Amino acid sequence: MSITATQQTNNRVVLSSDHAAIALRLVIAAHIEARGWVAVDIGPTSPESTPYPQHGEAAARRVASGDCRFGIVLCGTGQGIMMAANKIKGIRCGVCADTFSARMIRLHNNANMLSLGARVVGEGLALDIVDAFLSAEFEGGRHAARVEMIAALEA
Ligand code: RB5
Repeated sequence: MSITATQQTNNRVVLSSDHAAIALRLVIAAHIEARGWVAVDIGPTSPESTPYPQHGEAAARRVASGDCRFGIVLCGTGQGIMMAANKIKGIRCGVCADTFSARMIRLHNNANMLSLGARVVGEGLALDIVDAFLSAEFEGGRHAARVEMIAALEA
């Protein structure tokens, strides 16, 4: 099922990255704003090298607290910052390099964060992936029990 920003009670999306993905992150922020989302860009803005775990954590905490509905994080591959985000309780973050996976992590896994690799995907594909992620809605049903099993692993 497809959903738009205006159908969300919380339409805030937090964005963060390391130094490898600042330019793409800013493009994504503008793109989602144009689609009705509120982009909560928490940086960084400096091109200096900065470790991805702290930025993954900061974004994840915004989502876990309920301040933001979704999170989009980026690093060179998308892998490291995804791993960091997934250490925060309540976070389900998937790294995607294709639109099918981006849609499915919402439909089946109820992912609340998306990770992208700025050195992996080009700008056009990245924006399509973001659109696929943000417009898909969790199907629930048989998938709900499986997502609850993920949460049980955090206990
Ligand atoms: C930084 O060089 C790079 O390691 C980082 O952006 C990311 O790809 C890690 O997963």
